[in-house]
Amino acid sequence: MSIISVNELTKEYGPVLALNNVSFNVKEGEVFGILGPNGSGKTTMIKILTGQIKPTSGHARVLDYDVKKSSITIRKHVGIIPEQETPPSFLTAEEYLYFIAKVRKIKDIEFKIGWWMDYLEFRNQKDLLCKDLSRGTRQKLMIAQAFLHEPKLAFIDEPLINLDPIMQDKVKKFIKSEAKKGNTIFVSTHVLDIAEDICDSLAIINHGNLLYAGKVKKNLEKFFIKSVKGSK
Ligand SMILES: Nc1ncnc2c1ncn2[C@@H]1O[C@H](COP(=O)(O)OP(=O)(O)O)[C@@H](O)[C@H]1O
Ligand SMILES: [Mg+2]
Repeated sequence: MSIISVNELTKEYGPVLALNNVSFNVKEGEVFGILGPNGSGKTTMIKILTGQIKPTSGHARVLDYDVKKSSITIRKHVGIIPEQETPPSFLTAEEYLYFIAKVRKIKDIEFKIGWWMDYLEFRNQKDLLCKDLSRGTRQKLMIAQAFLHEPKLAFIDEPLINLDPIMQDKVKKFIKSEAKKGNTIFVSTHVLDIAEDICDSLAIINHGNLLYAGKVKKNLEKFFIKSVKGSK
């Protein structure tokens, strides 16, 4: 079953064509990567699929809901780690997670928040205001908030930015384990190593054009460069 289906999707920002007639499907239980150079349209795709902006034309369904009609419902069900977003400066790390847990009506909050604090190793900073946390710890909070309600589908825009290599490895393992459980992760990245390591399938885009959608190719770097150069 397709958990995400994208059909002839186009997004224009005034004169800028950010996505040009893009179509692909994402299967349930896979890690799906959207890969492309900076400015290729990855974040725009995630914003459309999570109902944050509307496409100019075309259709997309997420969890079988129409992104144009059911954006609130979609956002209730999915986890989202937006690109370069940080938790509110005026809450402590712990308060932020309690806030998210309340909004999402999560049960067993104390246990779940405690689990994330230990898993991503930030319990000793739980009482610091988010504004005083390192970028890496803020990113850990963003990861925790996205998975606190145990979504069957999560969108992660550039997942490992600001994390040290050991933490990167941990988060990669977590993403893979989510897929093993049958959950789906949609991840955007311009880092080929990450895509090769964690993704089952991917879409490659450049200047808003889809160049490839399918299983991850062996020797991805060579394939990616050839696809992108060939498209110019
Ligand atoms: N709000 C916006 N207004 C105008 N242009 C935008 C806006 N958001 C993105 N763009 C443009 O759309 C294109 C795709 O951007 P984006 O989706 O952020 O790419 P990526 O995430 O792959 O780096 C870029 O040319 C970018 O400058
Ligand atoms: Mg982006």
